[in-house]
Amino acid sequence: MEETAQLKIGDKVYELPIIEGTENEKAIDISALRGQSGLITIDPGYKNTGSTKSAITFLDGEKGILRYRGYSIEELAEKSTFLEVSHLLIYGELPNAETLNSFRKDITQHTLIHEDIKNILEGFPSNSHPMGVLSSLVSSLTAFYPESLDPNRSVAEVDLSIKRLLAKLPTMAAWAYKNEIGHPANYPDNRLDYCSNFLKMMFAVPSADYEVDPVVANALDKLLILHADHEQNCSTSTVRIVGSSHSSLYASVAAGIGALWGPLHGGANQAVIEMLQNIKKDGGDVKKYMAKAKDKNDPFRLMGFGHRVYKNFDPRATIIKKAADDVLAQLGVNDPILEIAKGLEEIALNDPYFIERKLYPNVDFYSGIIYRAIGIPTSMFTVMFTIGRLPGWIAQWKEMRENKEPIGRPRQVYTGMNLRPFVALDKR
Ligand code: CMC
Repeated sequence: MEETAQLKIGDKVYELPIIEGTENEKAIDISALRGQSGLITIDPGYKNTGSTKSAITFLDGEKGILRYRGYSIEELAEKSTFLEVSHLLIYGELPNAETLNSFRKDITQHTLIHEDIKNILEGFPSNSHPMGVLSSLVSSLTAFYPESLDPNRSVAEVDLSIKRLLAKLPTMAAWAYKNEIGHPANYPDNRLDYCSNFLKMMFAVPSADYEVDPVVANALDKLLILHADHEQNCSTSTVRIVGSSHSSLYASVAAGIGALWGPLHGGANQAVIEMLQNIKKDGGDVKKYMAKAKDKNDPFRLMGFGHRVYKNFDPRATIIKKAADDVLAQLGVNDPILEIAKGLEEIALNDPYFIERKLYPNVDFYSGIIYRAIGIPTSMFTVMFTIGRLPGWIAQWKEMRENKEPIGRPRQVYTGMNLRPFVALDKR
């Protein structure tokens, strides 16, 4: 028999169905409640609200588990590549040698972006933050590919939009950076793999040869895998909700980039490094900053700590911390900021304030240290997260469309003025 929950309001009892996922997660389905009782539920920040059923990513915040399509993040980070993971997320299965080859070929074929994008870039002041530029450039793809505006077109046409976006995002990201520093843009080199091509577009200059360091390309590939999806987070929910009005993929992803940019979400990686640099500049007194983080009258928060769903540890942070040590050792980089980060972590993990609130380092606490070591400038950190998260956004947008989900439209409890008469101004 179907399990139900009972909700008693006054003397009336409502039977609410309970649905169960494949990992035995349970949810009370309240979708019919308003029709039956006239009441809605309220949950600011959706802390206890599921917005969808999804078969893409499984996350258990208590146990620190993260899996894409059933594969553990630990195994994927160690054994696969970002392109394989992208295929897995978007199409549901890891590619075999043949499908990987044709996927890679398709992506490589579309890396070039329209020359007119240069005109758009020229319109931005040269010190523009690359996240704002990137969001605009992704949105501008709707103008270059007007057929992408209709997400109801054939599967093949939607798939072409997907591949174009995966292929062009690194080019647009590198060009946004070149614009920021006022240097000429580099064209893609389609002989290179996804990450090496991006690095070359970022760092090659006309006056010198540029060889991609495989240590750097591998570190970047791993970071992108770790960021590739994270179920219904702020930016992914944005992408799904924008797409639910049958907006195009490009418009939905452009909105997702805006959501990711904030320091409480993807922008935390930039905020972490800025915080660590400030602590270093201020004499490296980590205890002082711990006290500030705990002081409710001080707006300071320990960036890179805490997570809405991980209440034990963030498995991505564990992998990244080790990767940071490895990459710095391989590249022979000695970053004093890493020592400050480790000092902060050690104090926080033993402090009752952080223990009681289950606040642990999240993915962004150590990612910036690797980005710094491989030469990525701070303003580009969240752009790197964007490149990593793109296949997740695409997979979630595609799933939402294939499941024919209704338009996302929450309700509210109104707390404003009651009806009052309008008194016209005496304009004489
Ligand atoms: N430093 C100090 N106190 C904190 C922090 C922190 N980083 N994070 C949470 N708290 C406290 C908070 O003040 C509250 O205390 P109290 O119960 O006494 O009022 C308690 O912990 C619960 O916090 P919350 O803000 O209600 O939790 P939330 O689930 O709404 O927010 C968060 C989650 C990630 C926004 C938050 O922990 C935070 O602001 N962290 C710093 C920013 C950050 O690192 N963000 C990156 C998240 S991982 C990348 C991604 O996928 O987005």
